[in-house]
Amino acid sequence: MTETLPSEITLSARGSCPFDPPPEVTEQAKARPITPIRFPDGHIGQLITNYTLARAVLADPRFSARQELRHIPIPNRLADGEMGPADPGMFIRMDPPQHTRYRRLLTGQFTVRHMNLLVPRIERITAEHLDAMAEQGPPADLVKAFALPIPSLVICELLGVPYSDREVFQQHTSTMLRLDSTSQEVYGAIGKVNEYLDGLVEAKKASPAEDLLSGLITGGELNQEELVTIGFLLLVAGHETTANMLGLGSFALLSNPAQLAALRADPTLVDGAVEELLRYLSIIQIGIQRTALEDVDLDGHHFKKGDGVLISVPAANRDPERFEHPEQLNITRPNTGHLAFGHGVHQCLGQQLARIEMRVGYRALFERFPDLRLAIPADEVPMRSDMAIYGVHRLPVMWEEVRQ
Ligand code: HEM
Repeated sequence: MTETLPSEITLSARGSCPFDPPPEVTEQAKARPITPIRFPDGHIGQLITNYTLARAVLADPRFSARQELRHIPIPNRLADGEMGPADPGMFIRMDPPQHTRYRRLLTGQFTVRHMNLLVPRIERITAEHLDAMAEQGPPADLVKAFALPIPSLVICELLGVPYSDREVFQQHTSTMLRLDSTSQEVYGAIGKVNEYLDGLVEAKKASPAEDLLSGLITGGELNQEELVTIGFLLLVAGHETTANMLGLGSFALLSNPAQLAALRADPTLVDGAVEELLRYLSIIQIGIQRTALEDVDLDGHHFKKGDGVLISVPAANRDPERFEHPEQLNITRPNTGHLAFGHGVHQCLGQQLARIEMRVGYRALFERFPDLRLAIPADEVPMRSDMAIYGVHRLPVMWEEVRQ
């Protein structure tokens, strides 16, 4: 029996290359498309490492995203004990038709027109942070100077947080998301962020502007609690993810000089570079969780009603049947079709915004600092192996030349 015991869901260290999935995930993926796995609450479910099966599960309504059916608490340390149904507005943990209602309302706020309106503001925010970094001089921590503050300010733009409140808002959100905060500090910061969002919604009701919360308020379909929860969801879903892609993506480019040289020579390659970095890095390292609502037979695999299913995004995005030489970072790879933003009804709502932030961010960074390089050996960069969202804790960089 001991030999067949399923492995546990753990966040484990990477192998020799910090951009590759943990070796045991790669081993499991090589051996079979699906493996029994023990969830943190003791439940034995299934780990999916195959691209085709991962997509099939994510597109299948017989697999639920409902919060009360989950076997992993969310997000890591933000929930305790038994989980009830998701709060009104927390639609990432709901199934249709509840999910559909919120998603429809939100999609109207994430249109190409809305996102294009944000481009000049994102360019300005990025340029201001790179200016400040240049002014301070080398070395700099790219996480602190660039990767963390930009997504945070972009969410402020999206939600319509006034300039005068941004410092306080950023302070609470960073305490909430920082690894070295105690649980007491995290819970305190969650309270403060929600309190702030509550006041912000009230203020937008009194004088709506051109931002997402005002748009949702004007639509008239959501109550105060739902509006606050949606603001909180966008913040949590959009901040840490994009920040880690900016930090880890910069590290990956700096560690692959030929790829970076190609991007520098032809900055129009940035769109492909962003897609490839999303695939190659797959920062949602713990995976996407679903629960079988009934007995399901899919692609020759049987799932029992109640089975917890964990889709390993890093493994699916490195599946050699789907991607040629998946272990290589290749920014000119044709048509990636990666699963970094998920798939199916819950596919990332903010993906266009995240793409804009990364395209603007990487391009501006490597144009402004043409000889940017690591200030410490690559194997000394502290990695976020211990976090549900992978990335770097710090990224010390150097440069000599700055372009104005
Ligand atoms: C959903 C990844 C940026 C808002 C998701 C999902 C993934 C994901 C994998 C699917 C979760 C599931 O199926 O359970 C990412 C990555 C990002 C990013 C890798 C950055 C590189 C953003 C941004 C926003 C955002 C910038 C908004 C400001 C959301 C929301 C959902 C979601 C609201 C839930 C959608 C739904 O349930 O219908 N994201 N995300 N994300 N994301 Fe993102």
